[in-house]
Amino acid sequence: MIGTDILKAAELLKQNELVAIPTETVYGLAGNAFNPIAVAKIFEVKNRPTFNPLIVHIKNIEFIHTIAQKFDERLLHLLRRFSPGPLTILVEKKTIIPDLVTAGSSKVAIRIPNHPMTLELLNLLDFPLAAPSANPFQYISPTTAQQVEEQLGNKIPYILDGGKCKVGIESTIVGIEENNVVVYRLGGVSIEDIEKEIGKVVVKKKLLKETEHHQVITSGQLEKHYAPKKPVIIGDLEDLLNKYKSVSKAIILFGDKHYNSDNKNTLVFNLSPKGDFVEAAAHLFETLYLADKSNVDVILCELLPDVGLGRSINDRLKRASKRE
Ligand code: TXA
Ligand code: MG
Repeated sequence: MIGTDILKAAELLKQNELVAIPTETVYGLAGNAFNPIAVAKIFEVKNRPTFNPLIVHIKNIEFIHTIAQKFDERLLHLLRRFSPGPLTILVEKKTIIPDLVTAGSSKVAIRIPNHPMTLELLNLLDFPLAAPSANPFQYISPTTAQQVEEQLGNKIPYILDGGKCKVGIESTIVGIEENNVVVYRLGGVSIEDIEKEIGKVVVKKKLLKETEHHQVITSGQLEKHYAPKKPVIIGDLEDLLNKYKSVSKAIILFGDKHYNSDNKNTLVFNLSPKGDFVEAAAHLFETLYLADKSNVDVILCELLPDVGLGRSINDRLKRASKRE
């Protein structure tokens, strides 16, 4: 059921039921982060392996002291600077956070979502919300309540409708390794904006194949992720159009690139005709979702310039194109 009743959402969460919640990035599938039963339901509904840990959503900066300890000043600075907003920090957890939330890791991922309804909801609760993106494991993350309804509607009692997600791409995840600030997942805060605050950071490039992981999958490292059911093929637009001339296709463009479709079998999307990365990020998952739901056979796209949020968008497109 979809609705805007924050009190109802709070009541369900207090009973350790799950509620899909709006955030500025993507919709989350939320449960009481202090309650292992609620957390177990998240893994079950999402069909997500339990070695893949969950982000804990909190109402304000002070609350980090309830659930985590031993903070690196640089991470605290970033959290203060970008919260509420699309930044997640990885820090040492306290025992109040069940091991199931962190997949046994001593570190917990924390963020303060920037959505008025979800902040109001968090303020009604005396526990934080564990919430992965509200999509079935490895599928496209939802950016509207309707998409959640279509994917998981029959498995959860309530979807809190907060409209379209404004950022449209998941949070950037940062942590510390060997005293360096490491970015584990590119996301809604760009590397450039992070480096303006704290200087050079290390960006983890290596993506893991599902068969390669050890225990905990660190932060969105699975190679295949965010993936439509239809093949996504990345390349130079002209080459792709030549190669897939006689195939029904969706084409995802950016900026002043255009393609006049004379063919009924071709759908054309432009993530941002004016070439704006923020707008493109906001449209990305919805575009993939619409293309996947349409009757085309393949989804073709060109990568964006690899700077700012363009880098985060390219990361998602590359993962969406992986087949295994
Ligand atoms: O924007 C977002 O971050 C959204 C909204 C709902 O907040 N959430 C989200 O959650 O994208 P999810 O579960 O789809 O992705 C979180 C990533 C996972 O890939 C997971 O491996 C990583 O964060 N992660 C969570 N806790 C971790 C931990 N303790 N150690 C390492 N990685 C962790
Ligand atoms: Mg996800």
